[in-house]
Amino acid sequence: MHILGIETSCDETAISLIEASEASNNVRILGNTVHTQIDVHAPYGGVFPDLAKREHAKNLIPVLAKTLEQAGVAIAESHPFTPDLEPVLASTFTYEPELLAAFNAYIPTIQKPSIDLISVTIGPGLTPALWVGINFARALSIVWNIPLVPSNHMEGHILAALIEKIDHKPGEILGTYDLLDRRVVYPALSLLISGGHTQIVLVEKIGSYKIIGQTRDDAVGECFDKIARTLGLPYPGGPKISALAAEARAQGIRSPEPLPRPMIASDDYDFSFSGLKTAVLYLTKRLIEKAGALTPDTIQGIAREAEDAMTDVLVAKMRKAAEAYGIETVIVGGGVIANSHIRKALENLAADCGLRMLVPQIDHSTDNALMIALAGYYGRDKALAPGSELKAFGTLPIGPRA
Ligand code: KG4
Ligand code: ZN
Repeated sequence: MHILGIETSCDETAISLIEASEASNNVRILGNTVHTQIDVHAPYGGVFPDLAKREHAKNLIPVLAKTLEQAGVAIAESHPFTPDLEPVLASTFTYEPELLAAFNAYIPTIQKPSIDLISVTIGPGLTPALWVGINFARALSIVWNIPLVPSNHMEGHILAALIEKIDHKPGEILGTYDLLDRRVVYPALSLLISGGHTQIVLVEKIGSYKIIGQTRDDAVGECFDKIARTLGLPYPGGPKISALAAEARAQGIRSPEPLPRPMIASDDYDFSFSGLKTAVLYLTKRLIEKAGALTPDTIQGIAREAEDAMTDVLVAKMRKAAEAYGIETVIVGGGVIANSHIRKALENLAADCGLRMLVPQIDHSTDNALMIALAGYYGRDKALAPGSELKAFGTLPIGPRA
């Protein structure tokens, strides 16, 4: 079956078209496009929701066009919408007139693609940003008469780890992947680490999740980004901190002072990262008062120590949870698993405890729509009739708290 995934929960506008087969248990990526808005948000030091919404509205049609082009969808003779569709589309895009115009200009120029389901992120994420994707998905579902699956962004991050590339056919840049779900020993444990979330989730099976621990304040990605800001590094700080920390390790540079590992020994699976962020703020203030400015070495040393502190806490909590729940398979997802130091530390943990660890390939770690198309595939039983009303749910949980 062919599934179109649409993702607009934060600052990436992404669309993916996949073909998933139950019989062969694999998935082909036919088209996959991610348009990042990092440059637009960087001057504000973080993602600005209304700006994200506007950018999604501007980018959705070009991103769809690129994805369908990769998949070989043909441009057709113009076949205008029937008059009855016009008011329906106008009301679907009440708040996105620019997107309505682009939609009306582009969609009648392509052949209706072979798509069985449209999967769209309904949460968690920035509500204004989510709405644009939802309205777009609904409009496509109406004009092409395709059922809709409302998908959870965090479940998408889990599923991004459950595929493994099996071929590199020349000319097929997008490739074929094995679906790994049948190789997971359930219940599995998932660590979700992104800009908005830090959670340990018990995966009873795909589609059934219980949160056993989560951050009480900042998410780990947010902590990376805020510490980066304190150190005078541009948004998004995660990759910058990671690069500086690697450099510090290579050169044997250390932080002038140790940083805390908040809640590392607490008797639960929860996290707290705001204290770490504040510790960096106070440390840098003291250093600046003393020396006038931070030296490049100090910045590198603090980046290393902060990354170590976050890594230590994540590894300790995962070790404890894996032991307590008798886990054999660990699944890691979310943008922060693009961090090679954290990835390595979790791999070491898995080797040490005899766990099988599944992680997404690096380019599927940060937000993308492939993971949302996969969520649509696994959520195909809950598909809704074409044009069904969907609602953005900014704080949508992946499951109940255990
Ligand atoms: O999953 P994601 O793309 O978006 C959300 O759903 O939040 O995660 C984005 C987060 C950002 O906070 C970003 O700084 C962080 O992932 N990130 C990293 C790295 N690459 C992305 N954090 C640490 N090291 C990295 N290499
Ligand atoms: Zn994400």
